[in-house]
Amino acid sequence: MSERIAMATDHRGVVLKDALKQRLEQKGHEVVDFGPADDSASVDYPDTVAPAARALAQGEVSRLIVICGTGLGVMYTANRFPGVRTALVHDVETAELARQHNDANGLALSGNRLDLESAWPLVETWLETPFEGGRHQARIEKIDSLTRP
Ligand code: RB5
Repeated sequence: MSERIAMATDHRGVVLKDALKQRLEQKGHEVVDFGPADDSASVDYPDTVAPAARALAQGEVSRLIVICGTGLGVMYTANRFPGVRTALVHDVETAELARQHNDANGLALSGNRLDLESAWPLVETWLETPFEGGRHQARIEKIDSLTRP
């Protein structure tokens, strides 16, 4: 299924973002690029990730991929938005479980650790693995309902 995917990074994630964006578009997905356009300047990851995560929370895109050096800062930022479940993933097993059990609609990646070829199996697994629903549905609903301010 082709997805409309928001992508956002800081300076540490630009190279991987641009490579993944090209691969995703080749595979028929639409990418909405929230930047930055290049890695020539240091960027505070909330500046790019917050608008991208808001687009997911508001249903303007169906998926979100965020990248910084570790994947942590971008994950923290994205997960502040209601309904956004962004998983920091380093291996295929976690990418699969993040979809099966958590219906992860966001993926956080480490630009320090991954290049296109090591990241692609994680992205592909996350895109193609369905949510199992059932008992997991009630659990993900509680993430939002029990944490509402
Ligand atoms: C930038 O140096 C680095 O802190 C950032 O890319 C990210 O890893 C933060 O979580």
